[in-house]
Amino acid sequence: MATILVNGVRREVQAPADTPLLYVLRNDLELSGPQFGCGLAQCGACSVLLDGKEIRSCITPLSAAGNKEITTLEGLPARWAQQKGLSAANAAKTLHPVQQAWIEEQTPLCGFCQNGMMIKATELLERTATPTVAEIKEAFTTSGPSPHLCRCGSYAAILDAVQRAGALMAKGGK
Ligand code: FES
Ligand code: FES
Repeated sequence: MATILVNGVRREVQAPADTPLLYVLRNDLELSGPQFGCGLAQCGACSVLLDGKEIRSCITPLSAAGNKEITTLEGLPARWAQQKGLSAANAAKTLHPVQQAWIEEQTPLCGFCQNGMMIKATELLERTATPTVAEIKEAFTTSGPSPHLCRCGSYAAILDAVQRAGALMAKGGK
C-alpha cells in the first residue's frame, strides 16, 4: 500500500511500487483527466504536475510520487484557488485561468491531447507570467521528454490560449 498526495488530498492506494502513476490515477482514483496516449513518454497526453513540474505519468512509477504533490487536470481549480487565497465557497465555482482560456479560445478539437496541453501551460505560466511566442513553443516542444503532440493540429489555438491564460492570470482570474 502507498499513500500519495493528489490534488491536495492524501489517498491510499493498493498497487505495486512500479505501477505507472497514470494507471493509479485513472484506475484506482478514477481521475480521467490524464489520458493514455503512447505509454512511452512521447506524446504528453498523460501529463500531470509533480510539485509543479510537468511529468509523464505513463512512465513514472508510483514510488516516484513519494511525498510530492500530484496535481491533475481535475485539481487545477483548487490549485488556483489556493494560490489566490479564495474562500472554499468561491473555490468551488472557480476554473483555473488556463481552463477558462481554453474554453474561451475553443481550443480542443477531439480533445484527447488537451489534458497535457493545459498541464504544460500551467507549468509554464507559473514560472513565466508572460511568455513570448518563442518561449511557449519551446515549452511545448523541447522542454520535456518529447513535444506535446496533437494529431488534430490545434497548435495555433493552443498558442492563443496560453497567451489568453497568461493575461487572465495577470489580472487575477476571470
Ligand atoms: S501517454 Fe504518456 S507521454 Fe504519451
Ligand atoms: S485535439 Fe485531438 S489530438 Fe489534440
